[in-house]
Parts: sequence; structure tokens; C-alpha cells
Amino acid sequence: MKRDFLKLSDLTASEIEVIWKRTKEFKEGQARERPLQGKTIGLLFEKPSTRTRLSFEVAVIQTGGHPVFISSRDTQMTRNEPLKDTARVLSRYLDGLVVRTFSQQILDELAEFSSIPIINALSDLYHPAQVLSDLYTIRERKNDWSGMKVAWLGDGNNVAHSWIEAACLFPFQLVLACPRGYEPVDEIWKKAGKEAGDRIHLTHDPAEAVRQAQVINTDVWASMGQEDQASTRMEFFQAFQLNDRLLSLARPDCLVLHCLPAHRGEEITDEVLEGPHSVVFDQAENKLHLHKALLEFLV
Ligand code: CP
Ligand code: NVA
Repeated sequence: MKRDFLKLSDLTASEIEVIWKRTKEFKEGQARERPLQGKTIGLLFEKPSTRTRLSFEVAVIQTGGHPVFISSRDTQMTRNEPLKDTARVLSRYLDGLVVRTFSQQILDELAEFSSIPIINALSDLYHPAQVLSDLYTIRERKNDWSGMKVAWLGDGNNVAHSWIEAACLFPFQLVLACPRGYEPVDEIWKKAGKEAGDRIHLTHDPAEAVRQAQVINTDVWASMGQEDQASTRMEFFQAFQLNDRLLSLARPDCLVLHCLPAHRGEEITDEVLEGPHSVVFDQAENKLHLHKALLEFLV
């Protein structure tokens, strides 16, 4: 039975531990076998990408497989070929399909009609491979989740939704500070509340979120597809900028995460992004190692 990875909760905590163990082996160069030997992995992208596209492509190459990049603009998808037909055709050529798209429904439909694993490389609703890798980056530095305070600052967006799912799988405290009107999707929040209980908390006060935090995450104020809202969002999000003043409220050993691309002077200052708490380039590197382990697990 094929396995898809459309959202973080498609994996169990113990499966994720296996993936992280392999991530470490790939990173340290111990995993020399080529698990994707003879496999062809498609990368179907409907939005731009630097890190996710390249780290998946290189991960496939370095584990013995062949990546095929497919810009959806150049396919018959733009001329309304039904998704269920595309899914079945691609399944005849490929061994796995990594997809960056808009609606989560597109991923669900591709997964339903494909006979190969479908991997979410970002949708409007989730960015699960990113958060899987970010959790690994934290784990490299801090080995106990329990009681750890993780803050999310800014938009209740796709990356935030995957963090909310992460808090259902691992026992850290997640406090999200979002401007009014930009909170996470209600359905995701309510479901997580049932699973994580009072370990997840939502506030509109950024200081409350970052106070004594061991990890602070932030992300762009306007995600891909929201460019027309950028100037309105800029007004609402000002108080949520991760700067030295907010960072001074966190624990002295606090890690600063940003999945990148970053907009310096908007959601994060240059000083914080380039400062000693920031692990953003390790975060970016770990996507490569994590994607190898994820592909090995699924494909
Ligand atoms: N973090 C991330 O997904 O970056 P890209 O958009 O460059 O892939
Ligand atoms: N929330 C951002 C993440 C980019 C990697 C977006 O969707 O554009």
C-alpha cells in the first residue's frame, strides 16, 4: 500500500523518529547506500521555489535516483486536463511525485488517483516537509521536547498549520501570536485543541508568545498567492516583527527559525536573522538530508 505525505499527521511520531535517525545518518555521511537507485521522482511545481525544489532534486540525485522537474505551466493542466487523468498518467512514468500547489484539495485528488506516493512540498494549507526538517534542526540542538516553549510569530499560515500538527505529535508548548483576523484556520485549530489540549495557545500579544521561549519561528507576512494583500498585511503585522526588543524577552539560548525566503525589515530584522540565535542556514541545509530520509521512507 503506497504512503502519501500530504500533511504532518500522515506520519506517526515513531515513524518520524525513524526518518530523523536516517536524516542524521545521511547528514553525517554514514548512509552510503543509494535507496532511490533506478527510481524516477517527479517534482510538479505550481509556485516558485528555491530551497524545496533544489533540496528535493539534489536528494534524489545523491540517493541514486533521477528527478524530473515539471512546471505545471508547461503541462496540459493549464488547459484543464482533469487532475485524475494527470495523476494516473504520471503514475505510469514515475515512482513518486513531489507537489507544490495552491489548494490542499489538489493534493488530495492527486493522492486518490495516483498509485505512487504524493509528497506535499507546500500548499496554501500546510508545509509539512519544511516543519519535519525544522523539528530536526531543533532536535540537533535540544534533545528534550517536553516543556520546551516554541513561539510562532506572525501569520497563521501554511507553515503555522504544520507547526500546530507538530504540537499534536511531540510534547512541546506552542504559543502562536497572530494579528486579529490572521489566525490559523478554525478547523485545524479546533482539531489540534482536542489532541494537544493546553499545550497549544493562541494570543494576539507577540510579547506573551516569545517570553521565555526556547524557539521562535517566523515567516513572511504575505505568502505566495497573497501578493495583492501585502500592503494591508504590512500595517496589521508591524507589532509582530521579530527584532532585538522581542528577542530579549526569550531565553538566552533561544533559537530563531525562519524557513526562508525572509523579508528583512518586515517580519524579521537583519540583526536577528544574521545574529547568534539564528539557525536559518542550518535549517535550509537540513532540508536536503531530511528529504533523502523522507523519500527513502515513502518511495
Ligand atoms: N522554505 C521554502 O520552502 O523555501 P522555497 O520556497 O525556496 O522552497
Ligand atoms: N508561507 C510561505 C512559505 C514560503 C516557503 C508561503 O507560502 O509563501
